[in-house]
Amino acid sequence: MSLADKFKLLEENNRLAEQGGGEDRIRKQHDAGRLTARERLLELLDPNTFVEVDKFVTHRTTDFDMDKQKFLGDGVVTGYGRIDGRLVYVFAQDFTVFGGSLSRANADKIVKIMDLAMKMGAPVIGLNDSGGARIQEGVESLGGYADIFYRNVMSSGVIPQISAILGPCAGGAVYSPAITDFIMMVKDTSYMFVTGPDVIKTVTHEEVTKEDLGGAFTHNSKSGVAHLMAEDDSQAMMMIRELMSFLPSNNMEDPPVKACTDNIYREDDNLDSIVPDDPNKPYDMHEIIGKVVDEHNFFEIQPYYAKNIIVGFARLGGKPVGIVANQPAVLAGVLDIDSSTKAARFVRFCDAFNIPLITFEDVPGFLPGTVQEFGGIIKHGAKLLYAFAEATVPKITVITRKAYGGAYDVMSSKHIGADMNFAYPTAEIAVMGPEGAVNIIYKNKLTEEERQEAIADYRRRFASPYKAAALGYIDEIIYPRQTRTKLIQALEMAHTKVKSNPSKKHGNIPL
Ligand code: HXC
Repeated sequence: MSLADKFKLLEENNRLAEQGGGEDRIRKQHDAGRLTARERLLELLDPNTFVEVDKFVTHRTTDFDMDKQKFLGDGVVTGYGRIDGRLVYVFAQDFTVFGGSLSRANADKIVKIMDLAMKMGAPVIGLNDSGGARIQEGVESLGGYADIFYRNVMSSGVIPQISAILGPCAGGAVYSPAITDFIMMVKDTSYMFVTGPDVIKTVTHEEVTKEDLGGAFTHNSKSGVAHLMAEDDSQAMMMIRELMSFLPSNNMEDPPVKACTDNIYREDDNLDSIVPDDPNKPYDMHEIIGKVVDEHNFFEIQPYYAKNIIVGFARLGGKPVGIVANQPAVLAGVLDIDSSTKAARFVRFCDAFNIPLITFEDVPGFLPGTVQEFGGIIKHGAKLLYAFAEATVPKITVITRKAYGGAYDVMSSKHIGADMNFAYPTAEIAVMGPEGAVNIIYKNKLTEEERQEAIADYRRRFASPYKAAALGYIDEIIYPRQTRTKLIQALEMAHTKVKSNPSKKHGNIPL
């Protein structure tokens, strides 16, 4: 073969690999409102940074005449590239080749990328669009999945792992994304379930559509499996880029600092009037968060799930922070099973990746009721307590209004290791609300007039931040308009924090 022919062969092989399953299947993919694996990677990564690995890998199956059907790359595009100049490893399942299904060879490609990412200390972003295990291969494919799951677990807390679901993701295949840190889904085109509608109909006689069972909205609002939702593939890639901007590349690094153009001493007088005079009136905690953080930019995680707690990323003085905030506008900001597990997972992520935690607190307590008790609110609420207590990153808390009962302790109180605890003058830090307290202390012993007086007296004496401040449980009572400056000062103060928990194999968080 001449030199020219050798180059021509490479060119031809590259062309074949890049066309995936061919024009017809690519058209079908586009008609379904989905981009191809390569198109997605182009949108995800900085221009001209993608380096492909294992482009010419093919499967090794001979059953079912598979030796006559080979596609270069075998249904997954893998490699590395840059997001905002920072190294990331990627794999993108190519639905146009055997439905993106996972063969042994295909799994080996993903495993290679995951191993490189761990060695170099860089995140892995997986773009999932697959019919599951390569049916023609059987157990070899299952072994491939398990090899990936194992690496997902070993990488957890070491490098950030992000999954986008951009088509089908069913059966055991869901467990790789489930172990990763964040799951992004796209409206109308993606779905995840362990068993699909047909199996469900046979076993339980329930009828449910694919979308209702495992679509983006279901997992973002009902199950809490997903963390983010996009309108289409392009938006999903943009959102992942933004998410990445808050995260360090690995657990040994600090998160990336951005030049701060927002005045760190910016005071906002409107903050003084957001918490209403009437303690029973709701307000939107997003308003406080938005006014305090750099450029009013808050990247919310799980915005549609357990809305009584808000979690997400922002920057203060250019440095990324994780925000956890009770939301008095939803269920009065009460803690329940879903909000506790949502926040606990977020707190643990931030702690694993050196992202300081800012807590805004307005919580009337835990939600009463048999549904909550039978559902295990004791163990689920304990997760949040556990997560805050074990977190060694800088922890700063602002009590805006209610901090009642056990919820006061749980929400990053001084007692479980917070570094600076602020309270607004509107804060009420007590065992419970004045009404409930009086009803218990004076059970049936007071006239209505006396009861009202006792409530007013309790409110005066206990429903304020001053008792807690007198004990040193609150470090400073601040004017709400100063929140931004106070938080940035506290973060700067805590920047050199060194704190480690007792050495152990691992704790035993109540699961
Ligand atoms: C091999 C597959 C495949 C698979 C799809 N294809 N899934 N090939 N193994 N698992 C191929 C199809 O043969 C077809 O090939 C092409 O991909 C596109 O599939 P279509 O069916 O035409 O597409 P669509 O109508 O969009 O339906 C997509 C689908 C469906 C819903 C994913 O293909 C499907 O139900 N596939 C099987 C899903 C499944 O049961 N997987 C195993 C789950 S168990 P051509 O050549 O026609 O383009 C599992 C265990 C994992 O995953 C365990 C881990 C612990």
